[in-house]
Formats: sequence, C-alpha cells, structure tokens
Amino acid sequence: MTVDGKITTRNFSPVDFTSREDKLHLFRRRALADAVLIGHSTLRRDNVRLGLPKTDLCKARTTRGQTPYPIRVIVSNEGKIDNQLKIFQTDISPILIFSTTRMPKKIQTALREKATLHLTKSQHVDLVAMLQKLRSVYNVRTVACEGGATLFRSLLERGLVDRLNLTIAPYLFGGANAPTLTGLDKTFLPASVRCSLIDMRVVGDECFLTYRIYRRKRATSTIRTR
Ligand SMILES: NC(=O)c1ccc[n+]([C@@H]2O[C@H](COP(=O)([O-])OP(=O)(O)OC[C@H]3O[C@@H](n4cnc5c(N)ncnc54)[C@H](OP(=O)(O)O)[C@@H]3O)[C@@H](O)[C@H]2O)c1
Repeated sequence: MTVDGKITTRNFSPVDFTSREDKLHLFRRRALADAVLIGHSTLRRDNVRLGLPKTDLCKARTTRGQTPYPIRVIVSNEGKIDNQLKIFQTDISPILIFSTTRMPKKIQTALREKATLHLTKSQHVDLVAMLQKLRSVYNVRTVACEGGATLFRSLLERGLVDRLNLTIAPYLFGGANAPTLTGLDKTFLPASVRCSLIDMRVVGDECFLTYRIYRRKRATSTIRTR
C-alpha cells in the first residue's frame, strides 16, 4: 500500500507502484502457501495467473513435500467469472472456485472445464466452511490471501486472518475514493483488530512489515472502534 494506505487508485486500475523486490517478496510468500486465495475483482482487474516464477521456489516446495505450485482459489458471490481470464489458460495447479448457485448455468458449464466449482445455495459464500473444506478435502494447511480489500475485510471480520504482510511503498495517492487495505466500506470493523509487529525490513524506499493478528476471543476484550 501507499504511505497514505491506498492499495490502488480510485479507478481500481492495475497500478504497478511497488519494486521488483516487493514482487519477489510476494512470490516468496505465495510459495510458502498450500493455497492462494483471491477475490473476483482482483482476479478480473489484474488478470493474474497466481503462478510462481521459474526459480528455485517450486523446487523448495517439492522438497518440503508440497506440490510445485499452490492450489488457486477464487471467491465470488455472483459467479460471473470470465473463463477467458489468464488464470484459466495456465494448467499449473488445480483451480477451485467458491461461489453460489447464483452463478449463471452457462458460466458454470464453461468453468467446469477448467476448475472445480463449490457452489452454495446461500446468497453468500461461507468463508469458514470454505476454509474447512480446503483443509479436509484438499489438505490445505496454509492459505495466502492476495486480496483484494473486500475479501481481506471479510476474512478479518470473521477472525480468519492470523498474519499480515504489508509493504509500504513510497507514494501518496490521496482521495477518498481510492480503497485502503480494508476497502471503501465506510462502516467500522465490528471491533478494532489488534496487530503485533513481528518483522520489519527496509529495502530502498520500501518497508516490509509482518504483523501477527490476534484473533478475537470475546467482543468485550477488544477496543471498540467508535
Ligand atoms: N495493492 C495491492 O497489494 C492489491 C492487492 C490486491 C488487490 N488490489 C486491488 O484491489 C482492487 C480490487 O479490490 P476489491 O475490494 O474490489 O476486490 P476483491 O476482494 O478482490 O473482490 C471483490 C469481489 O470478490 C468477491 N468476494 C469478496 N469477498 C467475498 C466473500 N466474502 N464472499 C464471496 N465473494 C467475495 C465478490 O465477487 P462477485 O462480485 O463476483 O460476487 C466481490 O465483489 C483491484 O483494483 C486490485 O488491483 C491491490
């Protein structure tokens, strides 16, 4: 994010404002995970494959007993996902889509050729149930969520984030309509989320931070945000 906490511009354009070091940092974090998770808007706007560069990261994964690439997981309530996106042209690891039966039948048919669909009859994807399924059916122990802000906020609200890797890039964007880390939602989080800084590294003008996020045990034990 920028110094003023923005993760993109007000147009949600796929801006490239971090260094090569930050991209490598992202790949290194991704490479540690059994599954990489992404929200539909980020997938659509950034058109990412969620792979890994041809470095020793894949080799290190297999040495650790992992598959060469993490499972790729897409989350969408509406399910109007374009099967022509780059992720579906790359056959490096399974793609799982967690969505609802609101996904149009035609799209379901097209996507089933490239991905496994997990569709719930509810209006919204149940993130807890999704993580349970990832664990029980796909043996996933570590999930790296790569955003965007809406998905991150949903996970945070449900106490499903235990670590935050944050890079502060040397820019200020300004503007109320550019989303922050938790998006554009004007409402407060249900309660403040307590973080603890466990690592900080400065490379050039960027700062790489790792926070541990404390899980909420009781609502009364947290500081209210309003
Ligand atoms: N700077 C960074 O590091 C960084 C990282 C990631 C993304 N970004 C930027 O962030 C922007 C996108 O942010 P965003 O907040 O719009 O996106 P997002 O979280 O990627 O996507 C939002 C969409 O994902 C689905 N979704 C999110 N949470 C869900 C949940 N709990 N259950 C079911 N579906 C859920 C919904 O899809 P449907 O609408 O299909 O129902 C929702 O509309 C992009 O411009 C991207 O470039 C920046």
